[in-house]
Amino acid sequence: MRAALQQRVMENPLEPMNIEHLPVMMAKVLELLQCKPGGTYVDATLGMGGHSQAILERIQPGGLLIGVDRDRESLDKARVRLMDYSSSIRYLHDNFKNLPLILNNLALGPIDGFLLDLGVSSHQLLSPERGFSFQGEGMLDMRMDRTQSWTAADLVNSLSQKQLADIIFQYGEERLARRIAAAIVSEREIAPITKCNQLADLIIRAMKVRGHHHTHPATKTFQALRIAVNQELEGLEALFDSILCFLKPGGRIVVISFHSLEDKIAKRAFRKLAGQCVCDRPPELCTCPRKVLVRPLTQRPLTPGPEELAANPRARSARLRSIEKI
Ligand SMILES: C[S@@+](CC[C@H](N)C(=O)[O-])C[C@H]1O[C@@H](n2cnc3c(N)ncnc32)[C@H](O)[C@@H]1O
Repeated sequence: MRAALQQRVMENPLEPMNIEHLPVMMAKVLELLQCKPGGTYVDATLGMGGHSQAILERIQPGGLLIGVDRDRESLDKARVRLMDYSSSIRYLHDNFKNLPLILNNLALGPIDGFLLDLGVSSHQLLSPERGFSFQGEGMLDMRMDRTQSWTAADLVNSLSQKQLADIIFQYGEERLARRIAAAIVSEREIAPITKCNQLADLIIRAMKVRGHHHTHPATKTFQALRIAVNQELEGLEALFDSILCFLKPGGRIVVISFHSLEDKIAKRAFRKLAGQCVCDRPPELCTCPRKVLVRPLTQRPLTPGPEELAANPRARSARLRSIEKI
């Protein structure tokens, strides 16, 4: 298996599988996780294994890393990168929402730290056949887990105009959601929308965009569809609650999000665990549990510095939050 993977990388250096993904806010992640030799850590979003490699270097000897990703190709890529550490890592092709079940089954004892670096990797985004990018001619796919049956094309061609508008508005925070949804419905009456650039072009026409723009006009709609296809926000808040019981006292959770919806969920979940109010009611009517289970390590979200942004523009929307179990 290892030899076959190595050969595939050597023979096809430009294959999408080999696109580089620069791990985001690495120094902060390592500082906050405080990885120590012999420790047990969970990288819930293994991706290309960039963060995991640095964690593995620090937990030798005797440490263990659980690497989870719902994308089998990412796991294959990480396996090649991390082959020197193969005895210290367990790979799991799964959704991190199943972590409580996974950890129960593995019966590892208390965990020292969890990392969740949410969203998609550059490898996924820049591989045309994965259908995430509005620039590609690939099929409109967007599945992180390619064993899943429904794709972005399925949603775009089957949901009602109202359902599409709601998704584009809620998950993309796109002001022109209704107009875009109407354009999708009239285009698909002529022929199914199957390609990324076909959708991107119709969005540009619907938004009546002219001239050069800092971000592509289809960015928000593509984000919305990606979140919907992968059900990215479902169960995320509850997950932080449920992984806390696997964490050692003093153990830490680090989460990096790339859009405001994810960041809001992490913020709310961490506030709740820190015993703070998360409802909008006046103090006398507040029924928030107010049980202090964690200490916040970041009062406000941390963001990448100018040097990192210059080297890795993809990091520009990253927001990092972290808590420590009491
Ligand atoms: C931003 S990348 C992680 C990059 C990684 N930290 C690195 O340094 O290479 C996010 C990864 O998380 C995976 N992912 C996203 N949501 C997931 C979920 N719910 N369960 C498991 N993996 C998920 C994606 O497939 C992707 O590979």
